[in-house]
Amino acid sequence: MSFRVFGVKAWKFGGCILLRWLSGSKLSYDSWQIHFMTDKTDLKPTASITLRAAYPSEARTIASMSRLYIEHGLHWRWTPAKVKRHIRDKDTMVLVASRDAVIAGFAIMRFGDDQAHLFLLAVQPEFRRTGIGRSMMQWLEKSCRAAGIQQLRLEVRASNRGARLFYWQLGFWFLGQVAGYYDRREAAVIMVRSLNDPRPRFSSD
Ligand SMILES: CC(C)(COP(=O)(O)OP(=O)(O)OC[C@H]1O[C@@H](n2cnc3c(N)ncnc32)[C@H](O)[C@@H]1OP(=O)(O)O)[C@@H](O)C(=O)NCCC(=O)NCCS
Repeated sequence: MSFRVFGVKAWKFGGCILLRWLSGSKLSYDSWQIHFMTDKTDLKPTASITLRAAYPSEARTIASMSRLYIEHGLHWRWTPAKVKRHIRDKDTMVLVASRDAVIAGFAIMRFGDDQAHLFLLAVQPEFRRTGIGRSMMQWLEKSCRAAGIQQLRLEVRASNRGARLFYWQLGFWFLGQVAGYYDRREAAVIMVRSLNDPRPRFSSD
């Protein structure tokens, strides 16, 4: 079932309502303009980053980022065709953080009834440690809360210490490890976050 609310398309699925904006629309219920006040990178102090749904035409860029920053050394699974399928899937959000025409980061999350699964998240190296990853996670978390989802889950490469620390800082816990999850040669660490937990371990508020 689908219907429109103030220019926003809402899909009802699995007992949850998740608001997503119409593909191609410029403004939406939940587009975020973030103004970074940082001197950590080359970003100008007032550089503006917009969080929005990805367009199908951006699938290739997103897939390339996945190959470079997430799947390096592994069989390339998140091809442009697969990313495009997820952009079109009503239960999946492919979120991009863009600055002008540049994709600074992206995240792919699938929304279930009670649990959301984060498939991928990456930020371009020159934009890292400026809060973009955290902002995308906060955006997704807000959407999950609106849909009544209780838990977030993800798998991360065991060798990816930086990402594990990032998720830990955001309130994720280690649930376990699956040997050989990646191409039968690298383990995955499973991390979960309950949205009933009062606060992440730190907050930008
Ligand atoms: C993991 C990743 C998405 C983080 O994105 P980011 O935009 O740099 O993260 P943020 O700036 O929002 O960081 C928020 C906090 O998380 C922690 N953090 C982020 N990256 C970290 C790292 N490499 N090591 C330790 N802590 C880290 C820090 O506490 C940071 O706050 P601080 O900068 O004030 O110290 C990014 O490093 C990345 O794209 N890595 C490659 C792809 C990847 O590993 N994806 C995750 C697996 S799917």
